[in-house]
Amino acid sequence: MSRTIIVSNRLPTKVQRTANGLTFQPSEGGLATGLGSIYRAADNVWIGWPGLVVSDPGEQQQVTQRLQADSMAPVFLTEREIQDYYEGFSNGTLWPTFHYFSEYALYEEVHWEAYVAVNRKFCEAVLELAGPDDTIWVHDYQLLLLPEMLRRERPSATIGFFLHIPFPSYELLRELPWGAELLEGMLGADLIGFHTFSYQRHFLSAVSHMLGYPNQSGQVETPSRLVLVDAFPMGIDFKQYAETANTEAVARQILAYREGFREGRIVLSIDRLDYTKGIAQRLRAFEGLLQRHPEWHGKVSLLMVVVPSRDQVAQYQSLKEEIDELVGRLNAQFSTMSWTPIHYFYRSFPFEELVALYRLADIALVTPVRDGMNLVAKEYIACRNDERGVLILSERAGAAHELSDALLINPTDTNHLVEALNEALLMPEEEQGRRMGHLRALVEQYDVFAWTKLFMDRLAYSKIKQHIYA
Ligand code: UDP
Ligand code: G6P
Repeated sequence: MSRTIIVSNRLPTKVQRTANGLTFQPSEGGLATGLGSIYRAADNVWIGWPGLVVSDPGEQQQVTQRLQADSMAPVFLTEREIQDYYEGFSNGTLWPTFHYFSEYALYEEVHWEAYVAVNRKFCEAVLELAGPDDTIWVHDYQLLLLPEMLRRERPSATIGFFLHIPFPSYELLRELPWGAELLEGMLGADLIGFHTFSYQRHFLSAVSHMLGYPNQSGQVETPSRLVLVDAFPMGIDFKQYAETANTEAVARQILAYREGFREGRIVLSIDRLDYTKGIAQRLRAFEGLLQRHPEWHGKVSLLMVVVPSRDQVAQYQSLKEEIDELVGRLNAQFSTMSWTPIHYFYRSFPFEELVALYRLADIALVTPVRDGMNLVAKEYIACRNDERGVLILSERAGAAHELSDALLINPTDTNHLVEALNEALLMPEEEQGRRMGHLRALVEQYDVFAWTKLFMDRLAYSKIKQHIYA
């Protein structure tokens, strides 16, 4: 029987070292949470890094066995590989460049060499596991070279590639000394998917400028093959969120959280600590609300969950300091004996608690300056069985292309953001219900299962198309 082999840098389970030995926890981040339901739904296997240096052979075996039982196969990375491939090239070069922060990008040959070597390491892991009839589905910017490496070894394999972050304008890509190699790497796939049509368009234009390959209607003619390129906005497991939001356990959790806020209104934000998420801009907007609308003092609080992420990369460390300082300053300025304006949590939350937070919040404030999709926005909607709540969403998140019933804002326009907050706080229940009803119908229909089916059907079609073309 043919299977789908999912390949991504990070596995949906992360291994951590504690005083009691190794522990296994769910990973954070949209790729791991979003695909989690998919790979479990069928006889699939997920290959990736378990998030920790495990060099002892006995421990490696323990981790491998434990993950195998859950259909995962680990690729172990050394300390050096993590520094140069993961923190270096993936998150110090590609991540900032693809999110339009090229002033943060590093251009280090040794990081590039590690990136090539680790992509090769993943290639070997896939070849070891994948049968000739299996479909290989590679994910995200850490593995851009992998499709081409696999193609060399298995010319007739069915290979899909999906990018979970934005694909930037060609002008950004040409700043990378390795741009052409990266594009060739992706073109080893039969089908390349993006979250939005504009990312797809940027990719096609980069391919034609930098490699000179012609394209028509989302089909690239490389010298050897036809490659299909398309947009597939990723969804979430709607049912899982909607059903969990209705459980007794979540109801109890909501009651417990409520006590801390009495009758006050709650604005919620949830992100990994990342400079692309607009966390500092959001705090400034909240400050603006309190300055310009003193009528909200004592009546509204911002509940801000920031999940630790990539803390060995310099920009992430300085962002953490900036956020700590801003939160401290705002709370010191506005707090009263009975009211704290900002409740700030620098940690991750278990699934049911996240659902309770979504269900509790009057407003979800999602303000990235760039974001491939943003699944948090969709999760908030899925949890609102009561059809209440307002989503304020950055127009620069991929999700904004679909979620037009949200209050769409420009995250760098603080005035606009302040007024959107005020508007959301004053929005009549009837309008909340109308907007949320539309949003829920959309997120329910285009869930992660529909997304996978669309991608897989198109991947199968790419093989037929290539056959005709040849
Ligand atoms: N998330 C989580 N634990 C937390 C906070 C968030 O697992 O404590 C998840 C959240 O539910 C969402 C993902 O992390 O599925 C973030 O995905 P998103 O697409 O919004 O952004 P990304 O982190 O991928 O850039
Ligand atoms: C984003 C990326 C994923 C990544 C996740 C968490 O969602 O698109 O590829 O896994 O962030 O980041 P991390 O570096 O912890 O894997």
